[in-house]
Amino acid sequence: MTTWYCTNCHLKMEQGETPQNCPDCLADRRVFLNIEEGMPATPEDVRDSARKRLKGLCAAYPLCDGNFDKICQKEAYGKPIGFGGAGQGVSFKNNVQSLMNIKLKMRVVGEHTEPDTSIDFLGIKLDFPVMGSSTAGIEKYNDAMAEKDFCRAVVRGCKEAGTIGWRGDTWFYTPENNPALDVLKEEKGAGIPIFKPRSQDVLKRLISMAEESGCPAVGVDLDGCGSTIMARHGQPVFRKSEKDIKELVGFTKLPFIAKGIMALEDAKLCADVGVKVISISNHGGRVLDSTPGVAEVVPKIADALKGKVLITADGGIRTGYDVLKMIALGADAVLLGRDIIRASVGAGTLGVKIHLDHIKKVFRKAMFMTGQTTVKEINRDILC
Ligand SMILES: Cc1cc2nc3c(=O)[nH]c(=O)nc-3n(C[C@H](O)[C@H](O)[C@H](O)COP(=O)(O)O)c2cc1C
Repeated sequence: MTTWYCTNCHLKMEQGETPQNCPDCLADRRVFLNIEEGMPATPEDVRDSARKRLKGLCAAYPLCDGNFDKICQKEAYGKPIGFGGAGQGVSFKNNVQSLMNIKLKMRVVGEHTEPDTSIDFLGIKLDFPVMGSSTAGIEKYNDAMAEKDFCRAVVRGCKEAGTIGWRGDTWFYTPENNPALDVLKEEKGAGIPIFKPRSQDVLKRLISMAEESGCPAVGVDLDGCGSTIMARHGQPVFRKSEKDIKELVGFTKLPFIAKGIMALEDAKLCADVGVKVISISNHGGRVLDSTPGVAEVVPKIADALKGKVLITADGGIRTGYDVLKMIALGADAVLLGRDIIRASVGAGTLGVKIHLDHIKKVFRKAMFMTGQTTVKEINRDILC
């Protein structure tokens, strides 16, 4: 008899062969681990497992920077984007490089205090200012994991780590068959769906479904407007005008998030029509090559809009030190993309929790070593 562990809902069961499905959360066989072979305990263990499952697509390198020595970028020409960035990966690289260029000022003289890493995000208490970003389509990557199991791993893993997961949207999601919304319904709205900029009518349908499930917010990744794969599968996407965005903001009773903003002009237009969260992002460098790194854009938007809207940033954030830098530049909270995908593929809910717990620990240390006691007080004085 072997003891199997469901990484998505933590159920343990005795049986000879790998179970086909979890009797509790219904996840398929790919989420099971044989306990006797050892359980993942560290982010490295989780990465090792992801590396095997994502063979040929992503080698789960210690540094995920979109450089040409990495398989996601090297293999990209003329092929589906996989885990890489658009074009030569300049936007992807700029995300990582712009954070590396920023240095932290170490402060060791002062009162001994325990940093409080928690924040309030749209009335939700988060133990630290980091969320799982909106991502989708993992089922199509090496068949690593069923899409619904992936969505559940992100939503539950974030919750268990004391934060909240955002969910994405892609060409094989429809209003009738939507793994993200199915999971959010089953998990009683414990996540935030971000929809592709589909037609207004389809978006309204999806938003209503999110409201019925009890989600605390909804949003659209406006930078998804260039997706050709959506149109090829009969689900066209569009650039959205101020009027369109205003209509969606007015349609929902939930706070509305505009994701994929990289220009102050766009951020101001969104804020003017009632958007509550400006999510500064270039989609991890996947939609337009040669943009600046996200860390270069955050100060400009934060200087104009901080306090009027909430500001999130994502792109190239790999460590708790990066989290501190983005907050110091002006973000209220940050999102992790590729790292959360790798963590869920590596070890489901458990993998996401292990990864986020590590980020939280390092963020606490970074706050402590720069003399910060609350997230609210963090500002550019800690940068040098
Ligand atoms: C494989 C993959 C799928 C993604 N799918 C979506 C999506 O469905 N919706 C969305 O808003 N962003 C999507 N993103 C972008 C992420 O939400 C996020 O903006 C980006 O990954 C952050 O950069 P990072 O990966 O360097 O952390 C995706 C990114 C990747 C790598």
